Amino acid sequence: YKHWPGLIKAYKKWLPVTDKTPIITLQEGATPLIPLKSINELIGKNVKIFVKYDGLNPTGSFKDRGMTMAISKAKEDNCEAVICASTGNTSASAAAYAKRGGMKSFVLIPDGYVAQGKLAQALVYGAEVLAIKGNFDKALNIVQELSNRYPITLVNSVNPYRIQGQKTAAFEIIDSIGEAPDWLCIPMGNAGNITAYWMGFEEYYKAGKSKKLPKMMGFQAIGSAPLVFNKTIENPETIATAIRIGNPVNKEKAFIVKGKSKGKFTAVTDKEIIDAYKLLGKEEGIFCEPASAASIAGLIKLKEEIPPNSTIVCVLTGNGLKDPDCAINNNDASFKNNLEPNSDEIAKAIGF
Ligand code: F0G
Repeated sequence: YKHWPGLIKAYKKWLPVTDKTPIITLQEGATPLIPLKSINELIGKNVKIFVKYDGLNPTGSFKDRGMTMAISKAKEDNCEAVICASTGNTSASAAAYAKRGGMKSFVLIPDGYVAQGKLAQALVYGAEVLAIKGNFDKALNIVQELSNRYPITLVNSVNPYRIQGQKTAAFEIIDSIGEAPDWLCIPMGNAGNITAYWMGFEEYYKAGKSKKLPKMMGFQAIGSAPLVFNKTIENPETIATAIRIGNPVNKEKAFIVKGKSKGKFTAVTDKEIIDAYKLLGKEEGIFCEPASAASIAGLIKLKEEIPPNSTIVCVLTGNGLKDPDCAINNNDASFKNNLEPNSDEIAKAIGF
């Protein structure tokens, strides 16, 4: 492509769209697959590790892949308003694409548990923001009920078009390295994305575009790990608010993916998440949000199990700028303030 046209046009024949589908796009997709260096060394084996940096999508997360599809199909069906529950990224993406498609968006969020950048986005993109005294799981129940009762389209990952759009990330990985990775490491919340990646890998495999299928390695924060412990968590907690989910709506699908891919679900602590988050920033120059760092934290945790000479892709689902509070409170940077504005003073502060 001379100009990337967005993922629907790029992968049209793999997606449930026709010439009649109005394509609502912000030119999402085609995100970088970046090789890592220092984490390789830390793992100490001859492995190739890449991150799929989906934080570089138009609203800063992988949700845009699903939202371009969900909103385009909603437009095709003459829908006038969409609704979602969100820990932040879905609401930002739904708000942006709904506006782009000339629709209203209503977003339910857990009051006080959405990172500042995400809330800012939903407001700027003109969503109707409804913060509830309850967590994401509760919000999702409400929007499911409302979308059944009223003429409003649900754009959470129970909407099948979301998964269709998100599967293109797997296509992009194979298109760029010529084969599926041995492991795909991914954070899990509602488990829509792991379901979508697997769909993409399976479709490309069946079409002969890859010779293998990856093991799907899903990671959750230990205080919000219903898929690891196989039970609903009533009061999920984690610093990674994006994946602060106790009752994932796609849990059956996630277990099927784990079984078929011979993968594994593992919990990581908030400390492991933050260590990985800091490492990516200061050693690799990559800034992701805490939930995304769970994929790196998980890989490091499972380093003994990594097959030698393998290729691994870790999905970085969201941009670090989404959660500035986490960044300001969790870094090892040198930050000297209140300095006098003269060169001697600054030279002294630098250490000359
Ligand atoms: N990473 C980030 C940055 C997310 O925002 C989410 C989910 C996930 C991982 C997990 O993806 O739910 O498909 O397993 N965020 C949703 C939201 C819940 O509302 O933005 P999943």
